[in-house]
Amino acid sequence: MQIGAVAFESPFLLAPLAGVSDSPFRRLAREQGAAGVYTEMVSADGLTRGSRATFDYCAFAPEERPIGIQLFGADPEVMADAARILCDLPKEQRPDLIDVNMGCPVRKVVNRCAGAALLNNVSLVRDLIRSMVEASTLPVTAKIRLGWDGNSQNVVEVAKALEDSGAQAVAIHARTRAERFEGHAHWEMIGEAKQAVRIPVIGNGDVRTPEDAARMLETTGCDAVMLGRAAFGDPWVFGRTRALRERGEILPPPDASARLAAGIRHLALMVESVGEEVAAREMRKHVAWYIKGLPHSAAVREQTNRTRAAAELVELLAGYLATLERDQPFEAAVPVGVGDATR
Ligand SMILES: Cc1cc2nc3c(=O)[nH]c(=O)nc-3n(C[C@H](O)[C@H](O)[C@H](O)COP(=O)(O)O)c2cc1C
Repeated sequence: MQIGAVAFESPFLLAPLAGVSDSPFRRLAREQGAAGVYTEMVSADGLTRGSRATFDYCAFAPEERPIGIQLFGADPEVMADAARILCDLPKEQRPDLIDVNMGCPVRKVVNRCAGAALLNNVSLVRDLIRSMVEASTLPVTAKIRLGWDGNSQNVVEVAKALEDSGAQAVAIHARTRAERFEGHAHWEMIGEAKQAVRIPVIGNGDVRTPEDAARMLETTGCDAVMLGRAAFGDPWVFGRTRALRERGEILPPPDASARLAAGIRHLALMVESVGEEVAAREMRKHVAWYIKGLPHSAAVREQTNRTRAAAELVELLAGYLATLERDQPFEAAVPVGVGDATR
């Protein structure tokens, strides 16, 4: 897939994930085969106000490229200013594309007409994208849902409006806002949107396995697939997905040793990125995912939640690894998601 001048080496991307797709995790995902990554959604308002914290969300390492910074907001002028700010960053801090969040279901966001609320106002979608495209030297893309609710599914209309206004790709989470993350994603609607536009369509929603990703590509005709929750604690899912797609090969899931080593490395990258104290806190959820399904993981998770410093957390994980190595050969470790009594 190609978006503007940005070429992706495979069709499998890491989704924008608030609180999860941080720079260290994006690096791990790229190392394991994700063809592109996104920041979590970042406030356009925050950027235009010069908020330090907002700019921190936009920071990335060179090896994460190609990367999209996802903006949220509803005011075309503010969104255009934010796009301009990103385009004017020094080359090494400038993303490869700018994405607009049109799918966030959270009340705080939709009450300000941003996120999924934009789907209720297609003329605002047009104004917003037009003004951003005018202001931007980078490709502008959007991530949408099927519509606000079952009575207002307008994904085809919105996809066309995006294309007409100059967006260079559209990612579709195949649920309405009302569905949030419940039930099954309606992949057939991704196929309908794909038929209606010429810009690349990125499918998203409920891709849990390499087989799902292949099925989404085949059944919808979409150009790429975005994986979110499947990558939690499992950046290797991208490598497995590519192996299946490119070589028809089914790779085994990572063993306990690889998972804990990744947890420790993720932590080290997190310390580099946000410092010792914040890293220990931020890593709690990631560690819980890395150890999910392993023996005694519930107890380790509890200890993780009590650690205050990164060094303590490394010690805990290294000790856990040693215990697992002593107690059982790794080949026998329970694969992720199977027989997990600790979920
Ligand atoms: C914890 C979490 C945070 C998310 N944050 C964002 C976000 O910042 N921007 C966005 O467009 N979507 C966000 N999403 C939605 C995902 O990108 C994705 O559309 C959704 O999880 C469905 O894909 P999946 O089934 O592969 O997880 C988030 C989802 C989750 C679970």
